[in-house]
Parts: sequence; C-alpha cells; structure tokens
Amino acid sequence: MSEVVVVGPARRGLAGTVAVPGDKSIAHRALLLGALADGVSRVVGFPGGADTRSTLGAVRALGVRAEETADVVLVEGAGPELGERIRTTIDCGNSGTTMRLAAGLAAGAHGTVVLDGDASLRRRPMERVAEPLRRMGAEVATTDGRAPLTVRGGALGAIDWVLPVPSAQVKSAVLLAGLRARGTTRVREPHPSRDHTERLLPAFGVEVTREGEGVAVAGGQPLRAAEVMLPGDASSAAYFVVAALLVAGSELRLANVGVNPTRSGYLHVLRRMGATIDVVDVHEPAGEPRATLVVRASPLHATAIEAAEVPALIDELPVLAVAAALAEGTTTIAGAAELRVKESDRLAALEQLGRLGVGLSTTADGLVVRGSAGRPLHAGRIASLGDHRIAMAFAVAGLVADAGVEIVDPACAAVSFPGFFERLAALGATVERR
Ligand code: S3P
Repeated sequence: MSEVVVVGPARRGLAGTVAVPGDKSIAHRALLLGALADGVSRVVGFPGGADTRSTLGAVRALGVRAEETADVVLVEGAGPELGERIRTTIDCGNSGTTMRLAAGLAAGAHGTVVLDGDASLRRRPMERVAEPLRRMGAEVATTDGRAPLTVRGGALGAIDWVLPVPSAQVKSAVLLAGLRARGTTRVREPHPSRDHTERLLPAFGVEVTREGEGVAVAGGQPLRAAEVMLPGDASSAAYFVVAALLVAGSELRLANVGVNPTRSGYLHVLRRMGATIDVVDVHEPAGEPRATLVVRASPLHATAIEAAEVPALIDELPVLAVAAALAEGTTTIAGAAELRVKESDRLAALEQLGRLGVGLSTTADGLVVRGSAGRPLHAGRIASLGDHRIAMAFAVAGLVADAGVEIVDPACAAVSFPGFFERLAALGATVERR
C-alpha cells in the first residue's frame, strides 16, 4: 500500500452489507489454547491481520504445527507438554496480546522463551504481566519494564491476583499460566474487561468458575481440541458503524458481528448519543454472542464516557472521538489513561483532530471534544503513527471532512483489518492512494 491515502467525503450514503474480519481477540486465544490442547483444533473465520499472524508465529515457535488455508487455521496441539525444553525467540510484531498471552503460556513449561516486538511494542509496559507470572514461580526478565522479555518457565503455583488496571491481556496471561499451575488460580478485576478467555476455555473442556468480579481456574485440567467459529470483530465493525451514522443517507448492515457485552460498550454510548442502531438476529454459538447490526445515519449529541465503561470500549475510543467531533455539544472521556500505552499514545494521536478544525483538549486520562453539530470537518493531513486504530478512525473522519483527510502511513490498518480501505471504497467513499 502507498505511503499516503486520502479518504474523502462519500459521494452518497453508505449502503449495503459489510462483513468484517473475524474477531482478533478471540483468534489469539483460540490459537494459544489450541496449542495447549490435545488434538487438532480448527479456527474458522481467521482474520489474517498482522497481529493474529504474530500469534500464529508464536505457536509455531513453541513447536506446534499450524496451517492456514483461506480463513481456516488448523492447530495440532502439543498438549500439556507445550514448550517443554524449548529455547526460542518469538517476534510478536506489533501485538501486545501476542506478547502478554504468550508470556503466560511460556511460564508453564520448562524452557526459555524470549518475546520481542516492533518499536511500538518495545515501548509498552510489560511489568504488569511479568509480576504475577513471577509470583507463580516463573523467572521473567524485562528490559526496564518493557520488551524484550525473557520467560524461563517451570513448575508454577496458583495465585490470587487482583489486577491493578483492568486488562484482559494480563487476566488471560495469568489464567493461561494457571492452567499448568498447582492449585486454583484466581483473577479479580475492578471493572470487567473482555471475557473471551473465560468463554473459550469451556469449549476446550476446561471448567472455569466465575464469581462476582473474579474468575478461577484449577490447574492440571486437560484441554481437548475444539472448533472455534469466530464472530466478526466488534472493534473492526465500529469504524463502519460510526461511518454510517455520520454520512447522511446511510443505511448499513453488518452481519455476524460479535456483541459480547464486554466489547459492546461502543453501541451503548452511540445509542446514548442518539444513534439508530438495531441489533437483530442475535445468536450465541459456542458462548460468544453475535448479531446483525443495522445502522442508519443519525444526528448525534454529546455524552460523558466514564472510567467504569472504558474497558468495554477501550479500542473504540478513537473512533468514538470522531463521532463526538460531529455531535452537538461537548463530549468528555475520562478514566482512559490506558490509551497512552496502546500501539501509540492514542490521546496524543487524537490531538490531530485539531488539524481538522475540531475543538479538543486532552487531559491526563481522557479527552474533551467540542462537537461540530454535523458541520463537516476541515481537510487535513494526519499521521497514523503506525497505529491501526488511529489510521482507521481518521479514515472515518475523512468521510465527513470537506476535502478529505490525508493519512500518512495507512498500511498499519492491516494489523487488525486487512482490506479496510478497499471495503470503505466499495461502500462509496472516495479513497485515493498517493
Ligand atoms: C485485548 C485487550 C485490550 C485491548 C487489546 C486487545 C485482548 O488490551 O486494548 O486491543 O485481546 O485481550 P488490555 O488488556 O491491555 O486492556
């Protein structure tokens, strides 16, 4: 893909049916649990973006055969011996989920695994996962709290861990380690983060106890291979949901989108802002609810997003900020300091909305966005900063900017959503490569 993409106003309302790639979060988990299971697991609807390919590389580095054909991945699990006596380095690329979850998996085997990643991943905090794994008995060395990370695994003991910041990645890493620990591992979290690991474990034959704000798993349970049918990724769908809301005359159907309540915070917030979004045909195969979303262009008004609802929409905050920029009134986002340690400092990245004429200020842990009440944004040039969610959020802004938005380094969208710009163009947006 070219270095710069210009996304301009849609020529007409966005119409039709869009399919989004399979859920990235669940795909990571399905590959890793498949690697630890006995037998051959099938992951159907594999999204194939760079992040999930990093996890595919991770399970292969741990000695597991995994084959990708079209959108299906077959994983020949190694069983409880996974990673025993292995010495390897895993390149996690841009993927924090790969690094943190693979650390949890590596902790449970006698071996040495070095986890490294790209420049963005090397800046992200890793002590949050190293600390509980050390308490369980693994040796984990970080590089000043960051990657590269060296995990020397071994015999683990269960812990009862209270997450200092809500993080599904840390929760999942501890649970993955807990599967091979002596005793029952518990994780408690102040505000519930995405619960895909807890929902997927039973499909692999593991008993999980969910009690109030905690989740517990007894170590030593065998995992049996599973077939995992991924729903469409809720986070990928969010760009099209906001696009359809903002572009006059739109009516878009998004089929087979995950609507797990721990991921659907963006739908609640948008509805609170006045969005017309119908959720139909809800069904729940294998513990993960999915539905068709029918979205119609709607005038939006401002809202306040509070800390308690942030975990359920953490990855959607950039595109919600774009929605807020077109709403009537001033939207506030609080309790979102975690945005500063994502693939980029997303609060700083969103300050670029100012270049499009949006009145905006950042706080230590959030944003204040003064909406234009539907008036188009100005044309402007922004940097994706190598962050897929920033590239895609600003592409949505381009649909409602008078002469479009130039996005520098748009290729990173393929970290989670290969073909994003092509799909946007197919719906009637102007997308020009330079
Ligand atoms: C993820 C959890 C979230 C999210 C990330 C994916 C996961 O990160 O932002 O994109 O798959 O568990 P944290 O666990 O750091 O909150």
